[in-house]
Amino acid sequence: MQKNQLLKQFREVPKSNRIITALDLPTAEQAVELAATLGDNGQFVKVGMQLFTAAGPEVITDLHETGRKIFLDLKYMDIPNTVAGGVRSACGLGVSMLTLHASGGKRMMEAAAQAASEYENRAAILAVTVLTSFTLNELDEVAPGGGDMNDRIKRLATVSLEAGCDGLICSPADLPAVRSAVGNEMLLITPGVRPSGSAGDDQRRVATPKSAMNDGADYLVVGRPITKSNNPGIAIKTIAQELE
Ligand code: C5P
Repeated sequence: MQKNQLLKQFREVPKSNRIITALDLPTAEQAVELAATLGDNGQFVKVGMQLFTAAGPEVITDLHETGRKIFLDLKYMDIPNTVAGGVRSACGLGVSMLTLHASGGKRMMEAAAQAASEYENRAAILAVTVLTSFTLNELDEVAPGGGDMNDRIKRLATVSLEAGCDGLICSPADLPAVRSAVGNEMLLITPGVRPSGSAGDDQRRVATPKSAMNDGADYLVVGRPITKSNNPGIAIKTIAQELE
């Protein structure tokens, strides 16, 4: 599928259903059980390294059987050929979105985009620019001389766009700058979202669902405010209502 068609499809989803619930859980049983409580607003779920490493690709099949779409967040970074292979396996599983590190380089991202394009129902390729856990000092320690944080994020965003990626993972604080760097040609997926009045957990720079959407996010990734709630179905519905 062409990129513009894919972006259009993702943007046709009503805003109240653009919440990706991060199933950061240790077993497939817990993930499937939680997904079943999410209701109509919980169409998208994120399978990350904890769940995937414990439960394997079967958990994706199990979640698909419950009618959920999958955001596979394994943040690929390797030589281009290896990443292309990973992307083919993910597309073969039918995931809707997957992540890679932009710092793996332009050729790696091009190989990923090319591999995805072989599938009619392909996954959106989303690039991580700079992990939000990095301080500038920590980043300089491993990647010296790259300018300030904003410059680095914008440069990696631009290279990801040029390489054919479909979107970016982007912190709420960076949304306006990244949106102005890539225009509407990329989906922006934003974690670090907390409904008004809820705990920030270990997230440092948080935004409310509404402010993140107003600043240009296309989809929100929300974990603990939903998964640790006594009633995940109500928790996601409350966020969805804020987005309507
Ligand atoms: O529980 P919480 O809402 O903080 O979960 C956020 C999710 O988004 C987690 O699965 C985390 O891995 C992911 N994430 C993040 N910050 C990033 C990239 C991904 O919190 N920069």
